[in-house]
Amino acid sequence: MPDMPVLDRILFSPEQIKARVEELGREISADYRGKQPLFVGILRGSIMFYADLLREISVDCTMDFMCLSSYTGTNSTGEVRTMLDLRESIKGRHVVIVEDIVDTGLTLDYLMGNLKNRGAASIEICCLLDKPANRKVEVTPKYVGFQIENEFVIGYGLDYNELYRNLPYIGVFKK
Ligand code: IMP
Repeated sequence: MPDMPVLDRILFSPEQIKARVEELGREISADYRGKQPLFVGILRGSIMFYADLLREISVDCTMDFMCLSSYTGTNSTGEVRTMLDLRESIKGRHVVIVEDIVDTGLTLDYLMGNLKNRGAASIEICCLLDKPANRKVEVTPKYVGFQIENEFVIGYGLDYNELYRNLPYIGVFKK
């Protein structure tokens, strides 16, 4: 275990993450054969997951990004804002939203509402982590890396006050 005073314990090692991301990549590639999906990465938390997942996608696809902001510290404010929008139209496209974690669901609920009227052929959610116990609104990701308990986690893109995104594993934050 690395010497990290803020870490309670490691939940998923780099090897466990890699194995699960490979599985997700295979599943999504099979589902989107011939559809040329557009993968929308939600900045900044999904960056590690996005970069690793996309290398496991074996069908032609394109990439775009949005930056949404909602959290400060470990508490959701409930308010979501678009800091950076998509560059390209999603009209007629098969969109896969790539997100780090679904917690209350407020961020993805806002995003789905925002994208709904843009004429996509389909929109699905792929998240690395899902914390269903803390849901405030209904959001159902089609692809989930791991379901976790209602604990605050850091690493592999996930932050606490912008720190610890660079850790190669996912661990429980010690408050
Ligand atoms: P939601 O809107 O509550 O579903 O939260 C979505 C966003 O909150 C995620 O994209 C994360 O950036 C952040 N978040 C939620 N839970 C955690 C956590 O345990 N660690 C770090 N960030 C989190």
